[in-house]
Amino acid sequence: MKKIAVFGSGAGSNFSALYEAFGSQIDLVVSDQKEAGLLKKAEALGIRTVYEKGGRDLCQRILPHLEGIDLICLAGFMRLVKEPLLSAFPRKILNIHPSLLPSYPGLFAWEQAVEDGATESGCTVHYVDTGMDTGEIILQATVPVLPKDTAKTLHARIQVEEHRIYPEAVRLVLGAGEGCASA
Ligand code: GRF
Repeated sequence: MKKIAVFGSGAGSNFSALYEAFGSQIDLVVSDQKEAGLLKKAEALGIRTVYEKGGRDLCQRILPHLEGIDLICLAGFMRLVKEPLLSAFPRKILNIHPSLLPSYPGLFAWEQAVEDGATESGCTVHYVDTGMDTGEIILQATVPVLPKDTAKTLHARIQVEEHRIYPEAVRLVLGAGEGCASA
């Protein structure tokens, strides 16, 4: 059974979706925020948690905790993942981003979509590389941007799709059918 670590800094709704899909395969939850909702959710489920304060050697400090982990899922982790993690987990670190990459990488993706008057938005699961939201795309899902949308209503619509495609992308990566598709 492949073991998954989820990294996040926030509420942890994607963690919950992954837990629903993979149960005890979720072996570890890592956060740079002591009060993150995701840490509390993981603790309540009896999942091992690690808190590491942000800072220059963050990835170095996280690495020893990852013994036995096969796949890392970033889910709202507000830090750039760098060496030595990238080399230790080649094509084994995924991220979910709330836009149709390559549009709107980085922060405030859904706010920007609303401000720009975009008619479509969505989410992307991709491999993590050295760039900011630049890695190879695994799955994407599209949602409409409605005329009355605020950043909040659009994000809520995007998150429904995030919770659907993240587990699907993990299945693709863990199974034989690694690939790039549109969901
Ligand atoms: C998600 O919208 C994800 O795309 C972005 O951060 C948010 C995390 O939400 N990277 P949650 O903590 O999983 O609820």
